[in-house]
Amino acid sequence: MIKVSAPGKCHLIGEHSVVYGEPAIIAAIGKRCAVLAKKSEDVIIHSRELAAEKKYSCAETIEFANNVQKLWDSCFEKKDFSELFELMKKDGMNPVKAAIGKALVSMGVNSGVVVRISSDIPIGAGLGSSSAMSISIVKAISELYEKNLSDEQINEITLGVERFNHGTPSGGDNSTCCFGGLIWFRRIDSKITIKSLKEEIPYAMKNFILVNTGRPKRTTGELVQQVRGLPDVFRTPRIKALGNIAVEMRNILKKRDFKKMKDLMNLAQKNLAELGVSTPEIDKLTKSIMATGGAAKLCGAGGGGTVLCYHEDRERLVRTVRESGYQPMEVELGVEGVRIDE
Ligand code: PMV
Repeated sequence: MIKVSAPGKCHLIGEHSVVYGEPAIIAAIGKRCAVLAKKSEDVIIHSRELAAEKKYSCAETIEFANNVQKLWDSCFEKKDFSELFELMKKDGMNPVKAAIGKALVSMGVNSGVVVRISSDIPIGAGLGSSSAMSISIVKAISELYEKNLSDEQINEITLGVERFNHGTPSGGDNSTCCFGGLIWFRRIDSKITIKSLKEEIPYAMKNFILVNTGRPKRTTGELVQQVRGLPDVFRTPRIKALGNIAVEMRNILKKRDFKKMKDLMNLAQKNLAELGVSTPEIDKLTKSIMATGGAAKLCGAGGGGTVLCYHEDRERLVRTVRESGYQPMEVELGVEGVRIDE
């Protein structure tokens, strides 16, 4: 029996633009997904969040992952992942089954696993719940079957799993859940840069609050596809602007210039809203926070989900969030990545 856990994540900057080769700054958050796993002949999944339990044969699980991979390949050719997303949404267990199947195939394991999943990360809120789950499952299987894969290898397999869930993800989410801390992430074609910002930004990120505005109607993959569907001439300048904001954000965080950081967060929100991934609720909340001299931006794919809020006067921020009808979520930023828990 082994227990593995991984943190969720929160984009300080760079969601969506990261899909187009621009950089992102992403923090691991103090909410984790835990997976308790043991070897078994079959694949048995217990999910606390889905309040469900399912049993599949090992062969069936591997065949499912192989079929999902074939479907991903054909969707990639068509540049339309709708059919894949439909399949993954059809049954809440499908993403878990696919993750386990992909891990078994990638590691050449011909046996099953019992997994018990429990997570503190709100599902579908832009906080990397699926990445944290997938990375924990892949690491647990590697440890159980003594494959002793490095975190880099675990991360690579998990990116394959993330493709099943999101079509063409950047890999930023799973990398943050894997390595933890505060990371600079950039992917240009197949070249990936993952840099810890621990030395440049060694201090604790204070006065940030997360607010969950509700479960998005569309998935991350669907929202990424929606942005891709915008005319190039409209999308590209906004994506470039977000990329420039990320570069500037890294510099000003180094200098601890929080006044400028607020401007950058608000500018990012403006660009994301223009890309069509904000909602009336998020617009209202971000405007209320800006009106008090704070900053707020959506976080992750959008269409609902989490808003990252900042104000030097934390009490005031909490008050504004509450007055807007939301519950502030106080979380630590920059926590440890995937790990084996005792
Ligand atoms: O909504 P989340 O937590 O899955 O974050 C998605 C971030 C995007 O930039 C929109 C997509 C990606 O693959 O990086």
